[in-house]
Amino acid sequence: MELNFKNKVVLITGAAGGIGSTLVRDFKSHGAIVYGTDISPSSDSNYIQGDLTNDQFLSDLVNGILEKEGRIDVLVNNAGIYLRTPAKDITRSEWERLMDINLTSVFFLTQLVIDKMISQKSGAIVSLASVAGKVGGLIAGAHYAASKAAVECLTKSLAKLSAAHGVRVNAVAPGIIDTSMQDGVPAEQMEFLMKNIPMGRLGTAAEVADAIVFLASDASSYITGQTISINGGTYM
Ligand code: NAI
Repeated sequence: MELNFKNKVVLITGAAGGIGSTLVRDFKSHGAIVYGTDISPSSDSNYIQGDLTNDQFLSDLVNGILEKEGRIDVLVNNAGIYLRTPAKDITRSEWERLMDINLTSVFFLTQLVIDKMISQKSGAIVSLASVAGKVGGLIAGAHYAASKAAVECLTKSLAKLSAAHGVRVNAVAPGIIDTSMQDGVPAEQMEFLMKNIPMGRLGTAAEVADAIVFLASDASSYITGQTISINGGTYM
């Protein structure tokens, strides 16, 4: 299986988070030149701090990497926020903030990067969807679930538009993964969620990262427009 990323330029959003920091480590271990970005600070090398909902930041981020490296081979749209607000309590401003981070910034960052990938005639994009986007949010907020369903559909549209140009666009839909994103989920809700995991345990960031590395690599060269579920059997 071809998992060699030597000299490949990889951009990972949400790089300070649980799955993002694992991705940074994994892509580096496969020889990639990794750029991480997040709204939170980090002392990692090639780390660019900023807010993905800021259009100026997005263009500075992409232009800065292109000026230095001349190309971007892989984009992982991993940043996101998870809100569990009951539907009746979701305000317009909370709805818009969540959509801005989980969906709109994914589109506009991808729009900047995909253009370059198409001119390179190669590239792979992987975005983070969620099981909530497949089955609807019960504990996850309705806005969160809707944003992740939209990421899946966006993945298909962009895959169709770029497939003939050597660019692949895929997504992963994790179930419940043991990162700080799950902090604050009340014990009784977690117990309820656990009952619906046939494997009887949470997933790990490493298990999600493995699937993303595969989708970003030449080992998945005939796969595009797909969303791979990583959920211990929760949704089949
Ligand atoms: P995390 O909370 O550890 O990481 C998310 C990162 O996104 C954080 O470091 C945060 O600072 C960053 N971020 C948030 N808003 C930002 C903004 N405006 N600009 C730049 N960065 C921003 O969460 P985790 O678990 O690593 O999640 C990564 C992705 O996986 C998310 O998209 C999440 O929705 C998705 N996911 C996670 C699941 C889980 O159970 N942990 C399940 C399904 C999907």
